[in-house]
Amino acid sequence: MNILVTGGTGFIGSHTCVELLNNGHQVVILDNLYNSNIHVLERIGKLTGVTPKFYETDIRDKEGLKKVFEENRFDACIHFAGLKAVGESVSKPLFYYQNNIEGSLNLYECLIAYGVKNIVFSSSATVYGDNFEAPFKEEYGRGTTTNPYGSTKLMNEIIIEDLCKANEGMSAVLLRYFNPIGAHESGLLGEVPNGIPNNLVPYIARVAEGKLDRLNVFGDDYDTVDGTGVRDYIHVVDLARAHVKAVEYADKHTGCEVINVGSGKGYSVLEVLHAYEKACGKTLPYVVAPRRPGDIATSYAATDKAKELLGFETEYDIEKMCADSYHFSVMNPNGIE
Ligand code: NAD
Ligand code: WQD
Repeated sequence: MNILVTGGTGFIGSHTCVELLNNGHQVVILDNLYNSNIHVLERIGKLTGVTPKFYETDIRDKEGLKKVFEENRFDACIHFAGLKAVGESVSKPLFYYQNNIEGSLNLYECLIAYGVKNIVFSSSATVYGDNFEAPFKEEYGRGTTTNPYGSTKLMNEIIIEDLCKANEGMSAVLLRYFNPIGAHESGLLGEVPNGIPNNLVPYIARVAEGKLDRLNVFGDDYDTVDGTGVRDYIHVVDLARAHVKAVEYADKHTGCEVINVGSGKGYSVLEVLHAYEKACGKTLPYVVAPRRPGDIATSYAATDKAKELLGFETEYDIEKMCADSYHFSVMNPNGIE
């Protein structure tokens, strides 16, 4: 298939392009490089032998988008492009709605106008809100989101479902990611957060590199194995493989499916910290800090639907996730240059 990958130079998008190319698909990447780097393209080229065609385009730019669709014929679109910082979305809600909603609407308009029937969308476990008990099942539907970022994911799910009802032959897979971490084992691709990281593993990585003093563990009084928050971490390469399966599934079906992508297992903050200590061979200091507003105690996925519809299961465990994350940070002390 010839696949348009929006946000394809980003963390999950770049790993997905590698898996798509290695599975015989063609990709065209569209990204405005707001949170990624042009050198990612060369690295995808190194890993696959193919440097994808690239458009530096913003999905808020209708004319720019139109040009991409005029110049290519796509069988499918995997839509990663968007902003993802939960805290920033609270202080800049308009910026988030403009990028993640207005931009996505422009993209969907083009998909329909140019007859691209298959779409895979990056949704998030955040749409379950704090309304349900883990394991989160797709059939629970959507809960109450607690920040504008989460609301943009919930709204995009509803918009795509409506588009599938209105446009015969349209096919969508809404992938609800749990907590993607890790990096490509080559050390060529990985996550490069801007400034001080908000997410757990990128923060631990900075402590391991000696760039931050200690981890703040947000709460140790949850009803969990050791009192710290429990999450379902998934290796980014496993997540990328799920996209290959999802886009191939979309091509053979019509309608809209919501599918969780996680490992189905939960790890506490301290368990992740200890796995990272093993990976880097150092003891990493931490202090217990107050709970972070908006956090829930436990989140992990029900994985039966991914297994049944996509034949997808994760391969990599938490040790491998931490080892690959550490390897990437050692190989790229200044990010992707
Ligand atoms: P990322 O920031 O690394 O990648 C997103 C890419 O989109 C970046 O390269 C950025 O430059 C690009 N982009 C942003 N706004 C754009 C715009 N207006 N036009 C064109 N390009 C734009 O993030 P990621 O972790 O790879 O996440 C990819 C997708 O998955 C996002 O939609 C994110 O919300 C979603 N998601 C991520 C996580 C996670 O924890 N990483 C979890 C659930 C869902
Ligand atoms: C994991 C655990 C924290 C940092 C977020 C988004 C979600 C999705 C994935 C995009 C929690 C604890 C963290 C730290 C800590 N993104 N923690 N100290 O909150 O599960 O999910 O990323 O869709 O929408 O909300 O991930 O990595 O921030 O936190 O103790 O410095 O680590 O309290 O228990 P989260 P996270």
